Amino acid sequence: MSGMLQGQAISLWLATAAGTGYPSLSTDLDVDVAVIGGGVAGLTAALALKRAGQSVAVIEAARVGTGVTGHTTGKVTSLHRLVYTELAGRHGPDTARRYGQANQAAIEHIARVVSDEGIDCGFRRVSNFTYAETDGALNLVRQEAALAARLGLPSVFTADVPLPFAVRGAVRFDDQVQIHAVRYVQGLARAVDGGGSFVFEESRALALRDGSPVVVATERGSLRARDVIVATNVPFGDHGSFAEKSFLHRSYLVASRAGSPQLEGTYISVDEPMRSILAVEIDGASYVLAGGEGHRPEEPGDTAERYRRLTAFSRDRLGTHEPLFRWSTQDSISVDGLPYVGLMSPDSTHIHVITGLRKWGLTNGSAAALVLADSLYGRANPWARMFDSTRTPRAEATPAALQSVSLPPGPQHVAQAREDEGAPIVPAPGEGAVIDRDGERIAVYADPAGRVLSVSATCTHLGCIVEFNLADATWDCPCHGSRFATDGTVIQGPASTNLAPRPLTGDELL
Ligand SMILES: Cc1cc2nc3c(=O)[nH]c(=O)nc-3n(C[C@H](O)[C@H](O)[C@H](O)COP(=O)(O)OP(=O)(O)OC[C@H]3O[C@@H](n4cnc5c(N)ncnc54)[C@H](O)[C@@H]3O)c2cc1C
Ligand code: FES
Repeated sequence: MSGMLQGQAISLWLATAAGTGYPSLSTDLDVDVAVIGGGVAGLTAALALKRAGQSVAVIEAARVGTGVTGHTTGKVTSLHRLVYTELAGRHGPDTARRYGQANQAAIEHIARVVSDEGIDCGFRRVSNFTYAETDGALNLVRQEAALAARLGLPSVFTADVPLPFAVRGAVRFDDQVQIHAVRYVQGLARAVDGGGSFVFEESRALALRDGSPVVVATERGSLRARDVIVATNVPFGDHGSFAEKSFLHRSYLVASRAGSPQLEGTYISVDEPMRSILAVEIDGASYVLAGGEGHRPEEPGDTAERYRRLTAFSRDRLGTHEPLFRWSTQDSISVDGLPYVGLMSPDSTHIHVITGLRKWGLTNGSAAALVLADSLYGRANPWARMFDSTRTPRAEATPAALQSVSLPPGPQHVAQAREDEGAPIVPAPGEGAVIDRDGERIAVYADPAGRVLSVSATCTHLGCIVEFNLADATWDCPCHGSRFATDGTVIQGPASTNLAPRPLTGDELL
């Protein structure tokens, strides 16, 4: 039961950031570059382009930083678990080296922006560790540490890991960073807005037309631009190619009041179940984040149990007190492990995309944004080819030991209806159920006060039937991962329109 879970169902980052209040787009506007999506990728690209003399308009469907970026762990690092072993095995050491360089450059770019723009986002230099508890994992971290060092990265193997439980050893990258991601992107937005550039919130892109100019339509206004960057995490306006060459992966986080002594550094385990750890102080209060329980959206499992397992890990192994916040989110992972950056399709002329950030988008998304900004003002970029979004990826088998790092793609278009058979028409307060009325599937939710909200259960992306996620109180689509609030509002794409309201009539309630 969600009511029995401890902690508020909101990310620590969103709970501790001030709100933003940019206007929505209500006129037609001409700019050099339109950016769709106010997360780390879109805002980084927008600021780089503004600094290069372009006029830019960012349109964000909700509020700046409330997408995946607002639900991140907050590590800014080029050590992505065992990524170098994985990429060198799949693509060769040169690609692994370039990936590392792009991510290191992203860290330093973020450091410069924070300093130049005076962004107060808890920017902090830390060491980041990938740790091993078993012999098998120890071999993997030794191998990763040696390979990453050969690739020129700040990597060492260490048996001295400052965690409050015993581990066998770890790869350690020094001079990595952690940030309050929402405060960071809010700072980016402040730097973008003004001087002929704009940030618009509550302005969802509804249609996109390539050409000269490109036209982006929202409900009350449109942008005309030379180029558009689609930075909506899962691409808006994609006709399926990225759904085929990537997959979504969801994870959960619990933020608890820290015990003492406070942890230092950021961590991820090699052993399963994978656990991600970060300690942070915000406005004088100390928290420890424990993340993990990753899975693909089409295999939801018991979300409440996932939070309970993370809470138990945090309490038992990290010595934390009660959980204060819990949240989940998902990111897109390309089948070959590299982000997609560049044209939306080989036929596009002025529509560009950033996606496939593999759950490391604070750096991958920043690097991707810089690649695109370079390409839009005609500068060569050393990472553009590696990230080329129009490539046909090779999804070679991933070594068994690395499989949880980058899962091989499974069936992407399983359109199954899994309604709750025999469920009462009005669920218990706080719960939801899909009911069938003469073949029509209706998603019915009763809020904690017992008020009923009912919407169509048919996902507005490609028509699968949504399922109720009890722990997060959301309607989740098992096909390509769209998520909707209980009133039907899109939380995460690929769907871009809300679930239609579907009030239940008196007869239907009988
Ligand atoms: C559990 C978890 C933990 C993670 N931890 C880390 C970490 O520690 N370090 C790290 O580097 N990465 C981490 N990541 C990954 C990282 O958070 C993401 O890769 C990154 O935040 C994605 O940024 P984005 O700009 O692509 O997406 P978003 O932040 O989702 O931004 C896209 C924006 O587009 C908006 N939008 C969508 N559709 C439209 C539309 N039609 N019109 C207008 N706007 C639209 C959305 O509202 C959203 O705000 C994690 C990912 C997960 C799942
Ligand atoms: S049908 Fe594709 S996300 Fe729902």
